[in-house]
Amino acid sequence: MFGAKSFSCFTAMAAALVFILLNVAMVCHGGKTSSFIRKVDRAEDMPLHSDVFAAPSGYNAPQQVHITIGDHVGRAMIVSWVTMDEPGNSLVRYWSEDSPHKKELAKGHHVTYRFFNYSSGFIHHCTLRELEFNKKYYYEIGMGHTIRQFWFMTPPEVHPDTPFTFGLIGDLGQTYDSNKTLAHYQSNPHKGQAVLFVGDLSYADNHPNHDNVRWDTWGRFVERNNAYEPWIWATGNHELDYAPELGETEPFKPFRHRYHVPYKASGSTEPFWYSVKIASAHIIVLASYSAYGKYTPQYEWLEAELKKVDRSKTPWLIVLVHSPWYNSNTYHYMEGETMRVAFESWFVKYKVDVVFAGHVHAYERSVSATNCPLSTDDMHLI
Ligand SMILES: [Fe+2]
Repeated sequence: MFGAKSFSCFTAMAAALVFILLNVAMVCHGGKTSSFIRKVDRAEDMPLHSDVFAAPSGYNAPQQVHITIGDHVGRAMIVSWVTMDEPGNSLVRYWSEDSPHKKELAKGHHVTYRFFNYSSGFIHHCTLRELEFNKKYYYEIGMGHTIRQFWFMTPPEVHPDTPFTFGLIGDLGQTYDSNKTLAHYQSNPHKGQAVLFVGDLSYADNHPNHDNVRWDTWGRFVERNNAYEPWIWATGNHELDYAPELGETEPFKPFRHRYHVPYKASGSTEPFWYSVKIASAHIIVLASYSAYGKYTPQYEWLEAELKKVDRSKTPWLIVLVHSPWYNSNTYHYMEGETMRVAFESWFVKYKVDVVFAGHVHAYERSVSATNCPLSTDDMHLI
């Protein structure tokens, strides 16, 4: 049943939105939906000594804690964190809210990497499996040195009638405006249950030698939400970190080491394109900066993936991609055009409900579009 599904109108500031799947009919009037006016001045990065970048106290204390969905349907969670003093261990102790005495222990692993003159901390990844749906879990990391405790809610079981609230953030960076954006999202009365992140995380590559310390500061900055709420990652151009002038020729090296996603669960061969199912939504993540032409792995994966979408179970079909296919701004104009040409007919055939993109730092939405230039009447700008 596609039935009476629609989405609520947004309130928006910068790039943080809340997107709610509902099963009641609502009318979405376009036009102006926010009083936010973007300032003219260029956004300025917060300095390294900013309080939002402060490392937690204690020897080898876990920092940059973040979670994402760990399987294809929301019964697993990947917990990631960094220790700076020594490897420590990759153990996660966890328990559900209603069984506080039944503590489980999961063991993950850690990785490290070098980027030019930077050496990473010990980056831990641990997947908690066979969780119960729609349940609050507490988790602890840092055993043996400094223990820190967090919690998360698992999503509800995949079902066509289950509502769910997504946050939508892209191009966050670590400027003073980034901090306002995250605070704005967290203060929204429609509490997000998971964030769809449409690429461009830390903007570390804007700093000399792609200063990867800025990947660490970004991880500490977003921990206040991302340790408690799964963020679904898409990659943007600022994740490429391709810098042959520095001898760094492996694209996505920092992202690949720091952010693990459950790509294998959807038959993908790379963490840049994959899918997850959450509540009543089938979410497909595409990669603007990985090959997507005919015969490429991403092309073949998407062709097969779209056939697997079962609208009787997940009536919502949502796509995340960094570079927009439709954009009326001069900045980044037409950059998404080759991917649009490659995939748009499939989106029409399989009736994709909504595509969320980032890249252009201006909020813009359009009516459904198919292989045609949009007139300004079709665009609703903020
Ligand atoms: Fe971008």
